[in-house]
Amino acid sequence: MPVTNFTTPEKYQYLNGFQSYHETEAIPDTLPIGANSPQKPNHGLYAEKLSGTAFTAPRSENLQTWVYRILPSAAHLPFEKYSGYEAPTTVHQIPQQLRWDPFDLDEKADWVHGLKQLGGVGSPTTKTGLAIFIFAAGVSMPAQQAFSSADGDFLVVVQHGVLDIQTELGNLLVRPNEIAVIPRGIKYRVDLPAGPVRGYILELFSGHFKLPELGPIGSNGLANARDFQAPVAAFDDKEYAPGSWIVFTKYDGHLFSATQGHTPFDVVGWHGLYYPYKYDLGRFNTMGTTSFDHPDPSIYTVLANPSADFVIFPPRWLVGEDTFRPPWYHRNTMSEFMGLVMGEYDAKSGGGFRAAGASLHNVMSAHGPDADTHTKASNADLVPTKVGEGSMAFMFESPLMIGVTDWGLETCRKVQPEYNADSWVPLKRHFRRPE
Ligand SMILES: [Fe+2]
Repeated sequence: MPVTNFTTPEKYQYLNGFQSYHETEAIPDTLPIGANSPQKPNHGLYAEKLSGTAFTAPRSENLQTWVYRILPSAAHLPFEKYSGYEAPTTVHQIPQQLRWDPFDLDEKADWVHGLKQLGGVGSPTTKTGLAIFIFAAGVSMPAQQAFSSADGDFLVVVQHGVLDIQTELGNLLVRPNEIAVIPRGIKYRVDLPAGPVRGYILELFSGHFKLPELGPIGSNGLANARDFQAPVAAFDDKEYAPGSWIVFTKYDGHLFSATQGHTPFDVVGWHGLYYPYKYDLGRFNTMGTTSFDHPDPSIYTVLANPSADFVIFPPRWLVGEDTFRPPWYHRNTMSEFMGLVMGEYDAKSGGGFRAAGASLHNVMSAHGPDADTHTKASNADLVPTKVGEGSMAFMFESPLMIGVTDWGLETCRKVQPEYNADSWVPLKRHFRRPE
């Protein structure tokens, strides 16, 4: 079921619609009429363009936003390499099936310092590939700090706690069972109003998410466009001392910082198609078989991109007849990184895949139900059954071969060495030659 939509009118108001053209102003008459870049914008503001695609991208893909702000983003001192953040130096491309115990909470780190890269492939320098992070933070970011990634779009899956995200374009409150997407370059800061947070991030180095095509499904279903929520303009007009703000930028995996004497959260109005948004996974309208056969997991795609799709396994009814209801054994050209927000994932009953843990089945690495699940599903009474009640598993499914960082393999100390031995080695022969 959807997360109850707690809102406080003055801080969290949302504009509904996926990649719809939005316009919002915190003070009347901020947005110019007709012109985007008038000689003198209203209220003494500066006009600034934020582009998320090439100017010449096809109209259906073109994402650009105009912001009207108190001071331009360029008004900062030079960037310096920031030494307080460790970027991985390499990733290991290995065929080994991997499963991780729940990742630790961290009471001390803030958002910026609580980002741990678990895996990745490609490079932000050529805008190819992706990165996967685990985040765990216990304190809000300092009041006068902001962060952005020039490397790619962050898709944030909250597993624990609440993120109060102040972005240049407004505020987003993101709770477990919700996701947020913060596009490349958008500055934000993260407060933790309900204590420690933990979750998963998929960073896309290339392009942006779209809603999947619905084809024969028709005009509604899966994630409906109207359920995506963008923030309304909100700004801070306080004056700050020179150099009192620190703005971090993730750039080719490394962090750089620059100081400035004004807040980046000074956008009084904006209009366009390039903005952060959130989505409540409980609003996903699940589709599935009503006759036989386990559908491919693409039927559960929330957001799509050529480098990775975001797929969920929400509570749903299984009614298929003469059907092995979990996924049969498979080897895919796609790599599958899975996480669990809450509850139990219905295709694994052995208890090894737990909330806040993860698994990675890389390109062509064989996997499927563990031996227990196989036995149960092969003998199940195929009556209508609700699975995944109180659960939300998800997958970042990518055609790319995902490398794993040293943090993911060793430093985090969560890899389960007995994954193969526990899951599939116990499978027994059932073959009988016909007489
Ligand atoms: Fe799979």
